[in-house]
This record gives sequence, C-alpha cells and structure tokens, in this order.
Amino acid sequence: MSGRSTLPALPEGAGSFAGRLIAWQKRHGRHDLPWQQRPGGERDPYRVWLSEIMLQQTQVATVIPYYRRFLERFPTLAALAAAPQGDVLEHWAGLGYYARARNLHRCAQTLVAEDAGYGGNFPRQPERIAELPGIGRSTAAAIAVFGFGERAAILDGNVKRVFARCFGIEGFPGSQPVEKRMWAIAEALLPQTDVDAYTQGLMDLGATVCTRANPRCADCPMAAICVARDAARQDELPTPKPRKAVPERCATPLFLDDGESVLLERRPPTGIWGGLLAPPEVVAAGVAGGADLGSQQIAAAAEALARRHGCRLLSVEALPPLTHAFTHFRLHLNPQRCRVERIASVAAEPGWEWIAWRDGTTTVASAALPAPIRKILAEAARQPGLILGRVSEA
Ligand code: ADE
Repeated sequence: MSGRSTLPALPEGAGSFAGRLIAWQKRHGRHDLPWQQRPGGERDPYRVWLSEIMLQQTQVATVIPYYRRFLERFPTLAALAAAPQGDVLEHWAGLGYYARARNLHRCAQTLVAEDAGYGGNFPRQPERIAELPGIGRSTAAAIAVFGFGERAAILDGNVKRVFARCFGIEGFPGSQPVEKRMWAIAEALLPQTDVDAYTQGLMDLGATVCTRANPRCADCPMAAICVARDAARQDELPTPKPRKAVPERCATPLFLDDGESVLLERRPPTGIWGGLLAPPEVVAAGVAGGADLGSQQIAAAAEALARRHGCRLLSVEALPPLTHAFTHFRLHLNPQRCRVERIASVAAEPGWEWIAWRDGTTTVASAALPAPIRKILAEAARQPGLILGRVSEA
C-alpha cells in the first residue's frame, strides 16, 4: 500500500499542495521576521514561543516593536520567570488580550520551577508543549516546528481559510466536525522534509495572499488547484458562522390622538426603551412574546385605554406595520391610531404625557422617542386625511 492511500479521503490537488507551498515560500514568503531563525543560526524556543503568543490575534507589524522591547527587558526564559508580573504586563501594555501575558509569565515560572521537571527548558514534543499554560494545539505545533525542527501540523484561522478555499470544504470551520476534518487534512498534507518552510508558507499565504477580503489569487501558488477560485466562490468560503435564529415578537402599540396631542407613556428605566416615551401596547393574553391581535381585541383595548384617560373613542385605524431589528430579537409592530375626544379634563396619570403635535413645549418632533415609534409617527403624518397628518403638515 502506498503512503498516499492511507490518507483520509483527501481532496483533489492535495498531492501537490505541500510542494507548491514550499517552493512559493522559499521565493515569495517572509524571511526577515525578527523571530525567524537565520540560516545556520541556532533555534531558540524561547523567542519562538514569545513570538507565537504575541502573534495570536495580532498582526505581524503590530507585534514587531513589542517583541523587540520585550526581549530586551526579558532576554531569557529565566529572566521572564524571575520578573514581577507587573513588569511583564507593563511590557505587554497595548497589545491587548492580557490573559496571554499572564499565561506567558505563569508558563515561564512553570518551566523553571524545580519540582515541575522541565529543568528550565521547553519540551520539544508538541503534545507536551500543548500542556503548558496558554498554548493550544496549533501554537504548540508552531513552537515545535520553528523552535525544535519537529514535524507537526498547525491549524489556525488563516490556515482554515486556505484549506476551506483550496479544497472546497463546506461548513463553518469553528464547528467540531469541520475542524476535525481540517485537522485530519492538516496532518495528511504535512511533508516529510522542509516542515519549517511549509509551516511558514501556510502562515504567509493566509496572511498575505489568501486574505479574507480581496484575495490575491493571481499571485497564489494554489491557483491551479483551488476549488474556490475555480468556482468563483472565494467570497463564500470559508462558510461563515451560522447566525442564530433571532426570536420574533409582536406588539400592537396604541396611539391615542385627540388631534392636538398624542398620549405616550414613559417606559421604566430598564428594558428595551428604558426612560423613553412610547405608546402603550396591547399584549395578547397568554401568548408569550405577543401575537397579532384581532380587530375586536384591539378595539376593546383602545376603548379601555380611552376611558381610563378621560377620552371617548371615535375610531381605530391601523397604521402601516413596521419591523424593527434589535440585537437579540425582531419586533413586529402593528400600530393603531385611536382617534379620541377628550371629554373630561383629566390630568395625565403619573408617567403618562400628552405630547403636542406642534406648538407645545414638548412636541412629538422633540420628544425622546424610540426610533421605530418616531418612524411610525412620521409615516402616519404623511397619510392624507388623518388627524396626525393634519397636525404634522406644519
Ligand atoms: N502568525 C503566527 N505565527 C507566525 C509566524 N511565526 N510568522 C508570521 N506570522 C505568524
């Protein structure tokens, strides 16, 4: 049985992937990053580890000055382990994700601790590196490759993008089955030699050519085998994170309108429209989240509301419905204009205000209204023949 036949069903083109990548990295990849081993130079796992941690979620150009300053102050693992945590955080300040700095310090202290058995050195096996604080599977592999010349597979966000496009892998790469498949591919693609150039090539390709937006396919060594390019699906792969279904809610706001003013209620300080003025809403009894109500239910609620506020109900008319998207739900509003006559000079109840359409101290135009309510009123004002319309024609 040939070596290839033991690979997990690898996509077409996979056979030439590593060769293409290594040749491209040697000619076009990055070779002068400060943490890279110089030709003939010694490997330094401490520097490699530091750079890999700094490069998590952070771009190369941002990392370089931090990396240099950090190394100047903490030139060795022992120096880092001996430093107070405050000093370490100070040299990290501005890079963000400070858990990385705390883990870095903790990791250095673990490695030098007499009873931990590391003897002040990194282990070279990726599985053992991955046991240290703040080091995941991909970072452990990168440290093993660059720091020790080991053969190990990386799979970070950039690499997932390259694989998804090149091999046409569908599904969100953060999901467990897709990630599992990608790790299998990452392991299977790993060449026997030149693993440094291969690994750096994966990073370089993802960061400089196979970018999230506007990939430079004309310069890509995988152009001839890339499934996404062939199908012009670079924008669709990798598959984005599935959006959660957003809950839907219905509400029926009632606008009591006496031709001069509209009755609004100040909402309690917490909640979606906390502290703003909004119309009262009819809620369908027993229906969680509300539901579209029948005209009889609406009329009964309008009648009760009018009576409570010293008014006689003249008519109820539906205003154009509106859907408003909040971050966590969608609200379908089915607004009703309730034309009323004020029959008793009843002062507005505490928390309720008759807001003048015009010429008042507080007018609908100047009141603190939620955006969709303002939109409904503006739309209502444009409807010919409506009292609201008459008022807002000013
Ligand atoms: N991103 C993560 N590790 C990197 C490295 N060693 N070189 C460039 N970019 C990287």
